[in-house]
Amino acid sequence: MKYGKITGYGKALPKRILTNEEIATFVDTSDQWIQERTGIKQRHVVSEGEHCSTLATESAQKAMAHAGVTADELDLIIVATSSPDFLVPPVSSMVQDMLGAKTAGAFTTVVGCTGFVVGLIQADNFIRTGAYKNIVVVGVEVISRQLDWEDRNTCVLFGDGAAAVMVQASDEPCGVLSHVMGSDGSLYQSIIHPSGGTAVPATHETIDARQVYLKMNGREVFKFATGVIPKTMSELMEKSGKTFDDIKLLIPHQANARIIEYASSQMGLSNEKVFVNVQNYGNTSAASVPIAFAEALEAGLIEEGDLVALIAFGAGLTWAGALVHL
Ligand code: UT7
Repeated sequence: MKYGKITGYGKALPKRILTNEEIATFVDTSDQWIQERTGIKQRHVVSEGEHCSTLATESAQKAMAHAGVTADELDLIIVATSSPDFLVPPVSSMVQDMLGAKTAGAFTTVVGCTGFVVGLIQADNFIRTGAYKNIVVVGVEVISRQLDWEDRNTCVLFGDGAAAVMVQASDEPCGVLSHVMGSDGSLYQSIIHPSGGTAVPATHETIDARQVYLKMNGREVFKFATGVIPKTMSELMEKSGKTFDDIKLLIPHQANARIIEYASSQMGLSNEKVFVNVQNYGNTSAASVPIAFAEALEAGLIEEGDLVALIAFGAGLTWAGALVHL
């Protein structure tokens, strides 16, 4: 029996930082509103030459270097994103080429903000079955290119970035102890690009109607998120036989500090047990959990041997959780 040990991590962020104050110069909003409602102070956004593929590659290279894994040794590349360079081809193949991983398989997982946790569960299972030994899992988004920068309901919330983990086969018991995956497609319209897919291809009319940008029903997603975090957490505990006391840190999807605070208080979790960095990055969708995970490791808040709960939710609507033994 093999276990999926996380042996390396790395993050990659666009150089340009966009503050709330700067957004307030071109949209009817304010630093005070954004901070009070979301906790966000700033976010990173791509500039010319920075893409989903380049950020993903940089974060994967860092995770591989950290683990001491070369491109030749990679078996599989899993890239979680909803903002790839192109709809076709899969961005994971561009990443595979940029990494020079000639013998690795590669695929893209499209599950909105939930994607990285799903990718990690996939990697863990591939390793447990004995199929692969060395898998890099990336969460990456370039959402700034999908936003309507005239719509204050969405443009203040999101940011770009990437982070990756290296998952390797190990004989010692570790990796994903329990996991949860869920979907409620009846709420699919809550987070949607109305036009640009195959149901409503982009036309002059849909562009003029600003239907080619990300739309979100914030209140509906807020309600869903505050319920799904505690539900997922208790399912992770039930499936693993662990209790909240066994967990060193909960790393939830960084969509909104108020969602995290509300859900944490519902579970009776103290602030020091819940990681929050949304103030610096905004909601980076599939990149949010791995960026937070990398920062928690960098800060020494978690280390080998600890139990960490990762919980994400987003478009679909979907959710996923993984209880990871580091
Ligand atoms: O990762 C995907 C998951 N996404 C999420 O988790 C997002 C979940 N939702 C949220 O985080 C929150 O619902 C928001 C931050 C999007 C909105 O916060 P809210 O407290 O739910 O505000 P609201 O939607 O109830 O809007 C309150 C008011 C509205 O004005 P009226 O209708 O009361 O006059 C909005 O028009 O705030 C207005 N508003 C803004 N005002 C200034 C909305 N966006 C802004 C803005 N600046 N950027």
